[in-house]
Parts: sequence; C-alpha cells; structure tokens
Amino acid sequence: IKSEPTVFVIFGGTGDLNARKLAPALYNLFLDGWLPKQFSIIGTGRTQLTDEQFRKNLNEDINNFSRSGKADKEKWAEFQKNVYYQVSDAKDAETYKEFGKRVEAHAAEWKVRPNVIYYLAVSPTFFPIITSNLAKAKLTDDVEHVRVVIEKPFGHDLESAKELNKLLAGLFDDKQIYHIDHYLGKETVQNIMAFRFANSILEPIWNRNYIEHVQISVTEQLGVEDRGDYYDGSGAMRDMIQNHLLQLLCLVAMETPVSFNADEIRNRKVDVLHAMRRFSPEDVRMSAVRGQYAKGWMEGKEVPGYREEAKVDPNSNTETFAAIKFFVDNWRWQGVPFYVRTGKRLHQSSSVITIQFKDVPHKIFPTEAAESWQQNRLIISIQPEMSIRLQVQAKRPGLDMILNTVDMVFDYKGTYTNQAPEAYETLLLDTMLGDQTLFMRGDQIEAAWDLIMPILSTWTNKKSLNFPNYSAYSWGPESAEALIARDGFTWFSLP
Ligand code: BG6
Repeated sequence: IKSEPTVFVIFGGTGDLNARKLAPALYNLFLDGWLPKQFSIIGTGRTQLTDEQFRKNLNEDINNFSRSGKADKEKWAEFQKNVYYQVSDAKDAETYKEFGKRVEAHAAEWKVRPNVIYYLAVSPTFFPIITSNLAKAKLTDDVEHVRVVIEKPFGHDLESAKELNKLLAGLFDDKQIYHIDHYLGKETVQNIMAFRFANSILEPIWNRNYIEHVQISVTEQLGVEDRGDYYDGSGAMRDMIQNHLLQLLCLVAMETPVSFNADEIRNRKVDVLHAMRRFSPEDVRMSAVRGQYAKGWMEGKEVPGYREEAKVDPNSNTETFAAIKFFVDNWRWQGVPFYVRTGKRLHQSSSVITIQFKDVPHKIFPTEAAESWQQNRLIISIQPEMSIRLQVQAKRPGLDMILNTVDMVFDYKGTYTNQAPEAYETLLLDTMLGDQTLFMRGDQIEAAWDLIMPILSTWTNKKSLNFPNYSAYSWGPESAEALIARDGFTWFSLP
C-alpha cells in the first residue's frame, strides 16, 4: 500500500487527543514507513504558539505517550521538519484562507495535488462552524483528495445526530466524511472479522442453534478523570454503548459480507442494528440497568465517588455504568441474549467478548467426573490481554476420569513478535488511503441512537434513583448481576 502526499490539518492541535493519540500515532506511522515522503502536519488552535513551540510540545507528547517510547533524536529531527502550527479562529474566514494558502504552497513545492485531511479533534460544539467554514472557503471541493474526520460524540440523541448528518451531507460528499470510532481500529477488534470470515469451521455453529448467549463487557478502572464537564452531560450509554459496544455487537452478529468493501461491511452492520429489538418502558425496567460509582478503595488508596469528582454536579444522576440485555430479531439470532455492560471505576480494566455455546445434549459422564464442567466458550479478549481462547472440557491426567475446563489459546504475545499498532495509527492510515471500512457511517450512527433512545428517555423520566449504587473498584451494581443471573448466567471475566 502506498499513501499519497498528504497534508493533515489538526483542529484542536493543542488539545488532549492530539497529545495522547494523534501525534504519537503519526510519529509511529512515520517510523514504520507508512507516511508518504511528502507530508505536512499543521496543528491549529486559538493558543498563540510558534512552529518551534508546537514542535517542542509534540516532542514531549511523543516522549510521554508513544508506544515506541521516547522519540529518537535523528528520527525526530527528520519528522519535525514537516510539523507546523497555525493560530486560528474557527469563526474567522481569514483562518481558512490561510489553510488554503498553506495547502497550495505544499502542492506547488511537491508538484502534486496532495490529500488534505481536516481532523476535528475539538468539542462537537465546533463541528458546525468549522465544517461550514471549510466548505465556504472551498477547501473541501476536491472530493477525491479532501477528507474530514470527526470524533464522537456524533450528536447527543437521535435528533441531534440527524441534524449533524444533514449538515455534513449538505457540505461534503459521503466519501469525504470519516466518523472515527477508535474501537474499530483496535487490532483485536479487526481480528473479529478475520476470525469469523476467514475460517470455515465457525460459520456452521455461529447461530442460535449452537450459541446460548453472548457477553460484551468493556470495564474500566479509571474514573471520569478531568472530563467531568463532558461526561456529566453524557454518561455510559452515550459515551460507550451507543458507539463502541454496539459496534462490537455488530461485528459479532453481522451476516457475512460478500467482499471486504467498506459499504458491503457497513451495510451488514447496519442490518444488525435494524434487527435489534426495540425497548418498551417495561423492557427497560427488566433489561436495562444503570449505576453510578461511590467512593472506594484500591490498593490502600481511596478515590472519590462520581458526585465528588471535578466538574460534576454534586446531585448528578448521570450513569457511570450500564448493562443491557439486547436481542437481535433475525433468523440467525432469534432468542439469543446479548448482554452488554460497561462502566467506570470497576474492578478491572478489560474488554472481553464471550460467546457461550449450548451444553452437550446428553452427559455421559458421572457427575463426580465433571468436576468443573463448563459449557464451551469462545473468549475474545480485546484488551489489555490480546487473545482468543476456546474453552473446552478435557480429561485431567490420572487414573480416574475427571474432566475439567482447559483453554486453547491464540495470544498475540506468544504468536507475534512485532508490536501491534495503536488504533489511531490504523485509522489515520485509512484516512490517507481513502478507506472508510473501519469508520462509522451516518446511517449506522442514527440506527444506534434509534435503538437506545427509548432506554435513555425512560431513564430520564424516572427521577427516583438510588445513586450512587456501586463502590469504586467493585463489579458494578448488584442489579447488573441480577440481570444476567435471572437467565441462569453470570458475567464472565478473565482472571
Ligand atoms: C472513549 C470514551 O471513547 O473511550 C472514554 O469517551 C473511554 O470515556 C474510552 O474511557 C475507552 O477507550 P479505551 O481505548 O481506553 O478502551
């Protein structure tokens, strides 16, 4: 694969996302030879900085956050020659003229029409003004070369998501719009498709006849950190389930696409969202659980409860945990529950998908033989462990017939020596290559909102809550255990 000469314009150049993710990702792409020879990174923001100061900041960010460790002196010197800063005012037409001039200067110098990627690493309140001004300044007219990347949240509810889509559709061609969901760039997440569709043994059992239930669990030890102002208006449903968890669910549940083509794949994913069962207020009561963390202890250290966090309303009813039981009403999945949970300040940081298969139809072994009988499970661990394990029953060595559960494991660490790229590396490279496969499409975003809106509105209407209802570093509220226990299952977690 060869990437074309590219100019990146990063709105929010002095922000957290650029520091932690974008700059390190671009630097690692450069180290690994994925950036074209001719590239330019223009950070932009309101802060007054010179190119030199901006380069110095990026150097520190890379030292702090790059997967490849501290920046190498020589490599950095080469990289930073292509880094610039432009002070900007999102509302001012002059700002955009200046971008235009810079792009044209590169085009003249490189003697080629470069790709231009406008990356909006800014609060969504700026999306309308920046995108409209880009279009007004005619910077995005070249459909083949110019792309616009936007970060979630893609709206706050169905209505605002529709509004945003309408705005973007009025300004740009569909193939210029890149909605980033960084989960889709994770190695292990991309591998779900490889695993499902490049192996012949899975498809025959990948359905309601063999699968009893599916769990998707994305738990974090971190609290809300310094993002209280954003998070308090959002919550776990909007922040995680609407996008990351439903995207994972789609990858597990989708039909086989006919080719590895962006729209083929996204069509199959949106089919899943359309097939998902809608919630009545009574369903919400039975199948949706929310929680909020109270203070708690980890390794002798106390952390505050959510309501005591900075920039959070002390009476906040925002959920920091959500667990939902979904159904996908189609031939493949009829009757198979998909339990999904996510939350902050939980016992463990891990993202795991568990496919639990049905039990054998008839057990021939005496009860004593099956000491730890466990139905077959396929466990896709996304992070921090990157592995796929199949749990099967095996005979324990010895003279008596004792069965126990063992794991057949494919783990990245033991199999590959090269370091996996970060999600943002994959996704930034894809924007350069013009490949939208791993990006959310506008209709997917709306379908996901449409699914969760009844849950959100039922929750908003019910005011009496018992928040906070779980201690920091626990596994979440008891009602989440009850949700799955009612069906005879328990949440699975890796040790
Ligand atoms: C982000 C959410 O999209 O994903 C955060 O806004 C969350 O609240 C983060 O912490 C989790 O991402 P990761 O890659 O650390 O699992």
